[in-house]
Amino acid sequence: MAFHSKPVRVVVIGTGFVGSSYAYSMINQNITDELVLIDLNKEKTEGDVMDLNHGIPFGSPTKIWAGTYDDCRDADIVVITAGANQKPGETRLDLISKNAAIFKGIVDEVMAASFDGIFLIATNPVDVLSYAVWKYSGLPAERVIGSGTILDTARFRFMLSDYFQLDVRNVHGYIIGEHGDTELPVWSQARIGSEHIHRFMEKYKPEGTQKDLDDMFINVRDAAYHIIEKKGATHYAIAMGLTRLTKTILRNEHSILTVSTLMQGEYGLDDLYIGIPAIVGKSGIQSVVEIDLNEEEKKQLTHSAQVLKKAMEPVFE
Ligand code: 2OP
Repeated sequence: MAFHSKPVRVVVIGTGFVGSSYAYSMINQNITDELVLIDLNKEKTEGDVMDLNHGIPFGSPTKIWAGTYDDCRDADIVVITAGANQKPGETRLDLISKNAAIFKGIVDEVMAASFDGIFLIATNPVDVLSYAVWKYSGLPAERVIGSGTILDTARFRFMLSDYFQLDVRNVHGYIIGEHGDTELPVWSQARIGSEHIHRFMEKYKPEGTQKDLDDMFINVRDAAYHIIEKKGATHYAIAMGLTRLTKTILRNEHSILTVSTLMQGEYGLDDLYIGIPAIVGKSGIQSVVEIDLNEEEKKQLTHSAQVLKKAMEPVFE
């Protein structure tokens, strides 16, 4: 038996809750040939590798090992989930200085191994750290992608599907902006099936109100706080979102996802990473999708960008 093509390799840096849940999700979906786990805690990583390997007979053939930064040389994708996470009461932006310092070290090591693939970033504050990876790595912006508001958009769709008692795949809508307290829902473009959400509600849920929808968004925005209060961390849903993002890239699916990407004039924004819809495929970000926002939404997005820029100042001046 001869194998001619290079195996697809994904490297995960950081095997805490998010990294290990991502690894678990990946081997359940048959997405990569090789999965390399890297973490400062070698013992824990080796334990994860053993545990995941023992699941391979129930999942899909994947070669998994506890690696080193050298393994990034042949990687198609490097996913960074390493860093401190929020404690109850902390915001994502509170983590900025701690995690930016950790990231400088990580990105230098990855690039020293001549990595030439796509970075996916999930660590918070994800918009700021994605920008940091773009700066530190010198890679083109289309190859540095943050998880942005993919998770918030998923929460939004899930809650709307629950409210309308519908298949979540028929709910279309986006949360954009900072992955954090200043994010916003794009109600002006939200649809159920092909109907605008307000029209759908008029027809099929006349007892529903805009207040219900506004309360739902607050729950989306604050979901991480509620989960962290209850169990200390969020990891399953983000891991599934990262898996989806990985699949979109490796299979060149051209999916529209609300990722964190570099703004270069789009939405009147410049020189920051922020969550907006973009087409993602084999080369990374193929193009930013500029959806029509109403005046209020434009104002909120600009505000969100301003908050991010201010938070970035001490790190990038
Ligand atoms: C989340 O939204 C904490 O950013 C993480 O679940």
